[in-house]
Amino acid sequence: MKLWAGRFSKEIDQKTNDFNSSISFDRRMIQEDIAGSIAHATMLGACGVIDESESQKICDELEKIREDILSGALPIDPNAEDVHTFVEGELTQRIGVSGKRLHTARSRNDQVALDIRLYLKKECDALCRQIKELIAVLCNQAITHKGAVMPGYTHLQRAQPITFGHHLMAYAEMFLRDLGRIEDAKARMDELPLGAGALAGTTYPLNRNLTAELLGFARVTNNSLDSVADRDFCVELASAISLAMVHLSRFSEEIILWCSWEFKFVELDDAFSTGSSIMPQKKNPDIAELVRGKSGRVFGDLMTLLTMLKGLPLAYNKDMQEDKEAIFDAVDTLKLCLTAFIPMVETMKAIPENMRKAAAKGFINATDCADYLVGKGVAFRDAYKITGSLVAHCIETDQTLESLPIEKYRELCDAFDGDVYDAISLERCVNGRNVLGAPAPQNVQAQGERVLAWLKEMK
Ligand code: ARG
Repeated sequence: MKLWAGRFSKEIDQKTNDFNSSISFDRRMIQEDIAGSIAHATMLGACGVIDESESQKICDELEKIREDILSGALPIDPNAEDVHTFVEGELTQRIGVSGKRLHTARSRNDQVALDIRLYLKKECDALCRQIKELIAVLCNQAITHKGAVMPGYTHLQRAQPITFGHHLMAYAEMFLRDLGRIEDAKARMDELPLGAGALAGTTYPLNRNLTAELLGFARVTNNSLDSVADRDFCVELASAISLAMVHLSRFSEEIILWCSWEFKFVELDDAFSTGSSIMPQKKNPDIAELVRGKSGRVFGDLMTLLTMLKGLPLAYNKDMQEDKEAIFDAVDTLKLCLTAFIPMVETMKAIPENMRKAAAKGFINATDCADYLVGKGVAFRDAYKITGSLVAHCIETDQTLESLPIEKYRELCDAFDGDVYDAISLERCVNGRNVLGAPAPQNVQAQGERVLAWLKEMK
């Protein structure tokens, strides 16, 4: 029997019911739905909209339903239209007319808006916990490898010397921003929509602030139409999650490159790698590839949400039922990716010798060579040109700046002295890059420790 049975003379067509139903995916909000109903019934009782005794009866039975769901004693009916209908139906079956009073001054429109907010607030916390864990793993790895010299790249061409620790801390920064964005999204969704009714509020003397307090919301929404029509918070969270996926995907791409024989900068732990069914020598970075691949579906979720809302007139429209699968998938995917990614990064073994070897080729100290001349009074543009000629000579004669004899240096510019070799040593180049934010090991160490201390404080 449907909620709207009074107005209709027939049962709904079975296939239409299946099409219309959202129970298969909104069932995951059942705890939030029950919590919302308990708060609503408590508030109705406190405001005298229903008798205190009936309010108590409703709340007690809802608690029992909650327990029966948790224990598995109460299976969720797959034929129910949605989770809200199911809970109310079950309650009414158990306590009769009192159960029928629960929906006073409430609509499924404000109810569903409430449930999603409650559910997503909780998920934001779970995501933030995981992201913090990833950041801590990155900081620890970065501190360990603060002195591991490797080439920094632009255009995927060796550019200037950095360290592996510095490279990892770049990702820590990205994930710190992701953390902030998810926290921001959570703070903005922290409003109680209940009391908006179907769209136009209600004439009952509700105390919305009490409901908000009971459910732990920071405040109540200000406009009843917006309360039921708003899904901006889903878009915002999906957008924050998408960006986190972009970062995971970029990192994955680098890990995949670093695992290749061409680079061999890192080796993944056997527990987080896979083999091939035919090639016995293979060790594949499947986790990183899958994370990179999964970013696409999350961007799809974001597009689903944006397109769902675009052009929707106020207030609630059934289109909005499509919000849940999209935002749930975005949340689930990021959680799943992080669950695999964090231990993979934590156990990833750096191979500093190979990084150092790569850094030795490609003239990544050429800028430092030019800077050396600047230190001797040569104008930077001239120094740049002289160093360029030296590099060209090295390429032609298969030498490096380190192996080039001083006579050759002096042939091009007599400002060169024996101390040039010290100035272009990669370790010196990295140590010297100690301006704020640059890769000098003490910078990386300090930043890693700062972030770790901040994470500890936040707990
Ligand atoms: N299952 C619906 C949803 O998820 C419930 C909202 C109210 N439905 C309605 N037809 N007014 O959006």
